[in-house]
Amino acid sequence: MTTQTVCLNGEFLPLEEARVPVLDRGFIFGDGIYEVVPSYGGRLFRWPQHLARLKRSLAAIRIANPHDDDAWTALVNRLIGLHPWPDQFVYLQVTRGVARRDHAFPAQATPTVFAMASELAPVPAAQREGGIAAVSLPDERWLHCDIKSVSLLGNVLARQAAVDAGAAECLMFRDGFLTEGSSSNVWVVRNGTVFGPPRDHRILEGIRAGLLDELCARGGIPMQTRPVLREEVLAADELMVSSATKEVVAVTRLDGRPVGSGRPGPVYHALYQAYQAAKQAGG
Ligand code: PDD
Repeated sequence: MTTQTVCLNGEFLPLEEARVPVLDRGFIFGDGIYEVVPSYGGRLFRWPQHLARLKRSLAAIRIANPHDDDAWTALVNRLIGLHPWPDQFVYLQVTRGVARRDHAFPAQATPTVFAMASELAPVPAAQREGGIAAVSLPDERWLHCDIKSVSLLGNVLARQAAVDAGAAECLMFRDGFLTEGSSSNVWVVRNGTVFGPPRDHRILEGIRAGLLDELCARGGIPMQTRPVLREEVLAADELMVSSATKEVVAVTRLDGRPVGSGRPGPVYHALYQAYQAAKQAGG
């Protein structure tokens, strides 16, 4: 077993020894943001895009960015270099820091910065080849889902509802329109075109959304960003989810019924291959 070294407020130490005070606002209020960045063969994947989103999330909740770009990059690369796994994902979290409990921002607090690298296991062959099951659920989260906030209770409850139903992910709907999964973006294929919902405050704009735009453009697969009705999802030829840790995975059962043919379809296969090629190419 590899000892996991984490970085807490600039100090590198074994995971088991890392401690955060109970008055940390991340613990008390979920007052913080995070990122999840994959690294393949020791090279960060789409790091500039992840760093940009980290900075957007910090600015959105008015936490001063504790590091400049070079310091973030050095921190993350050092962490990856400390672990033997060829493929890793780095979890970064910044909270507003430690302060006496009061909802309003403390006059003075130093952000808590936590970073942890973990092994990035490949998506299990059964899921890659057969797809995953999902359930549909109402989206009961707040209206700033574009911020990668650590306040994830809505996402946690949605994922658990999926697990309780024997599924791996949920597809959430707000006012009859598709939003996203509990920890993934959702893509709908109809007649060869990939559709995804608008990248507004109702969803987290995945770094894979930008990547899939590029892969679709390169592969000649039409891609459209527009509101997607629940009925269109239910009538999809193919459904897919994407995230840093899942890459792109076909959803082949929804609410117990097969999606399209019930097997991962041609658009999924094309995008999966293109994704692997992008990894090989380093971005
Ligand atoms: N989650 N939407 C939500 C709600 C997410 O939590 C995620 C990723 C995504 C996809 O974003 P990206 O392509 O940048 O990974 C969309 C990460 C992996 C997590 O919470 O672990």
